[in-house]
Amino acid sequence: MKQQLKTIILAAGKGTRFKSEVPKVLHCLAGKPVLDYVLDVAEAVGSLTTYVVVGHQAEKVSEAVGARATIVLQKEQLGTAHAVKMCAPYFRDEAGLVLVMCGDTPLLDQSIVRRLAGKHRRMGAAVTVLTCTLEDPSGYGRIIRDVKGDFAAIREHKDARMEELNIREINTGVYCFNVKELFLAIGDVKANTKKKEYYLTDIIELFLKRGLVVETLLTEDWTANLGLNTRVDLALAESILRKKILEQLMSDGVTIIDPATTYVENDVMIGQDTIIYPCTYIHHNVKVGKNCSVGPFARLRPGTRLANNVAVGNFAEVSRSVLGDGVNMKHFSFLGDTTVGRGANIGCGTVTANYDGKNKNKTLVGAEAFIGCDSVLIAPVRIGRGAKVGAGSVVMAGRDIPAGKLAVGIPARVIKKV
Ligand code: UD1
Ligand code: CA
Repeated sequence: MKQQLKTIILAAGKGTRFKSEVPKVLHCLAGKPVLDYVLDVAEAVGSLTTYVVVGHQAEKVSEAVGARATIVLQKEQLGTAHAVKMCAPYFRDEAGLVLVMCGDTPLLDQSIVRRLAGKHRRMGAAVTVLTCTLEDPSGYGRIIRDVKGDFAAIREHKDARMEELNIREINTGVYCFNVKELFLAIGDVKANTKKKEYYLTDIIELFLKRGLVVETLLTEDWTANLGLNTRVDLALAESILRKKILEQLMSDGVTIIDPATTYVENDVMIGQDTIIYPCTYIHHNVKVGKNCSVGPFARLRPGTRLANNVAVGNFAEVSRSVLGDGVNMKHFSFLGDTTVGRGANIGCGTVTANYDGKNKNKTLVGAEAFIGCDSVLIAPVRIGRGAKVGAGSVVMAGRDIPAGKLAVGIPARVIKKV
């Protein structure tokens, strides 16, 4: 039987270099908080329970984590070993494995973590450290090996000697530990003399003194370990992730004319043969059907659903709205909190006034309805099936236009049957 696997995510640090009132791990990447990506990895690799160590702005981080993990408070940030030690009460008398990861490495791939746990089990190690070779290893802990090439220690950049600084294999900060050995040794980690912090990395030498097996797994994927320390890192991570998302969509059969100016966040589904034109932004929680055309210069905001064969053209914004099969909304328009039935036409310049200063109100446009250019639909309002609204009309809130009728003017009045 496989040993049970749990996860500890370290997220108590201050993230000083972000210069932000918002905790670093709650900054968004492609529409989703950085920490969520790490929680996703823990869930994807089958972590039975996940613990998130919080400290700096603990309340905000705990709230964002919600029910996804158990919160462990580290009141004072005395280092990574100290942070792990805070979890000890949850692991009393437990066997099994525990992954330790940092809350600020959102690009870490679940397949690498699986491989890490796999190698750990195969080698019967007490710890297996995920390492990576970097062109520029500065700032990272270096992997020290003995003459035989065996893993001997992790040396933090600040404590490294000149020749050690040349080592390009670094500690990614992702580890797989045996629960028993980790918590037996964690209390014995001494504070670093320079920084007065307890380094988790010092546990390697403790393990070796106890005759335990320590292993490494080298990954080629440098992005896996991209820890976000500054907003420059955040932008770099965003661009890497964006490229991945777009490439996935293209391999699923979506045409993206210009990936360089197309922005698609997480949690977006787009059907086959849909074409995304340049300078388009699609937020998270959006679904687009097959054979649609979006952009150029379009923005689809969260909660938007486009059925099949829908055209949303230039300078069009759709927010929390559902557009049925074959709807055309081809030029500068705004639809918010709106449901549009199949085959309807949203003329250029159509605007739903969905916000009255207090509430967001709903608009319904029936199937095959025709909204003339430059109309304003003041919500809540319904335009009946097959109805027409003349160009330049203002349809007042609550003054629904019945099915099959033509309404014109300000305020819009029904003048005849279509
Ligand atoms: C750490 C590793 C380093 C590795 C690097 C990879 C140590 C001592 N060093 O360095 O070998 O190359 O990660 O990115 O572990 N944290 C807490 N409580 C604390 C201190 C930190 O929860 O008291 C959290 C931070 O929020 C962060 C993570 O631990 O998510 C790592 O801490 P950080 O200070 O960024 O360590 P590094 O200097 O990057
Ligand atoms: Ca870091």
